[in-house]
Amino acid sequence: MKATATAPSNIAFIKYWGKKDKDLRLPTNGSISVNLDKLITTTTVAFDQELRQDEVIINGKQSDKDSQRVTKHLDRVRKLSKLLFKARVESQNSFPTEGGLASSASGFAALAVASAKAAGLSLSEKELSILARLGSGSACRSIPDGFVEWLEGDDSDSSYAVSLYPHSYWDLSIVVAIVEAKEKEVSSTEGQERIDSNPFFPVRLRKMSQKISALKQSIENKDFTRFGEMVEAEALELHAMAFTSKHAIIYWLPATISLIRTIQTMRKQGLEAYFTIDAGPHVHVICRTQDEKRVFERLKFLEGVQDVVINKPAVGARLAKEHLF
Ligand code: PMV
Repeated sequence: MKATATAPSNIAFIKYWGKKDKDLRLPTNGSISVNLDKLITTTTVAFDQELRQDEVIINGKQSDKDSQRVTKHLDRVRKLSKLLFKARVESQNSFPTEGGLASSASGFAALAVASAKAAGLSLSEKELSILARLGSGSACRSIPDGFVEWLEGDDSDSSYAVSLYPHSYWDLSIVVAIVEAKEKEVSSTEGQERIDSNPFFPVRLRKMSQKISALKQSIENKDFTRFGEMVEAEALELHAMAFTSKHAIIYWLPATISLIRTIQTMRKQGLEAYFTIDAGPHVHVICRTQDEKRVFERLKFLEGVQDVVINKPAVGARLAKEHLF
C-alpha cells in the first residue's frame, strides 16, 4: 500500500485559463503543452491503517493549505478503491513551488499516479489524466509523454490529455529563467475565476479552435518560426486577459520585462528563440537545442534572474522504485 511516482512540470504553448465547471475543473478551451525534464516532482504515498488523519509533507514542510487539497484528492482515490485508510504523503520538488512554475501540475500528476497505485487501482493513462485534472487542471497534461494536448471535453470523462508526439520528436530546448520572487500573489485558481467578467475573453475564445489547429500544424511541420511566433502571441494574450480582468493581475516583475526585451534583441541579432510565461514572473524560452547554451549565457546574468535551467521535452508521469520514506 505504498507507491512512489515522478511527474514532470509542463509548459503550455496554448494556455488553459478559465473553467466552464469549477468543481470538475473543466476548461473553457483545450490546451497544448510539453513536459519539462528538469522540473520534476517525486511523491510517495502510503496508506496506513494506524493513521488517524492524512499526513502531508511537501518539500520537508507540513502545510494546512496544501494538506486540504491533497486530502480531497486522496478521498477521490479512497472512493474509487473503497479503501478507508488514511495516508502519509511526502513530496519533493526539484524547483521552487507556487511561483508560477507549475508545481501543482507536476505535484498532482505525481500524486495521482502514486496514490492510485498505493490503493491497488490499476488505471489507464486516460483515467490517471482525469484523476490528475480533478486535483489541478494543468496536471492532466503531465501524465502523457512529450508534446501533449488536453482535450477540452464537455464532461469529466471526456476532458483529459493525450500525447501528440513523444518527447524525442523535436529537438527543442526550453530554457527556464527563474525570476527572484516570493510566493505568487494570486493563485492560478483565483486568477481564472476573475476571467468571467473580462470583456475580451469571448473574443479570445472565438479564435481558439482555429488557434489550436494552427499550432498543431506548426508542430507537425516542425516550423519553428511559425510555432514560436504563435506561442509568444498566446502568452501575451493570456497576460492581456490577466491585466484586463476586473481586479487586474500583473504577474510580471521588472526582470520579466528585461527577459522579454533580451529575447527580442537576440532574435534581431539572429539567435532565434521565443518566450512564454505562465501565471507568474518566470520566463520559459524555447529555442533549437543547438542554440541552448548561447541562450543560457544571455539570460543568466540579467538582473533579477535567480537561476536558469535548461530543459528538454520529457516523458510523462511514471512509477518509481525508490520511495521517499
Ligand atoms: O492548473 P492551474 O490551475 O495551475 O492553471 C494553470 C494555468 C497556466 O499555467 C497559466 C496555463 C496552463 O495552461 O498551464
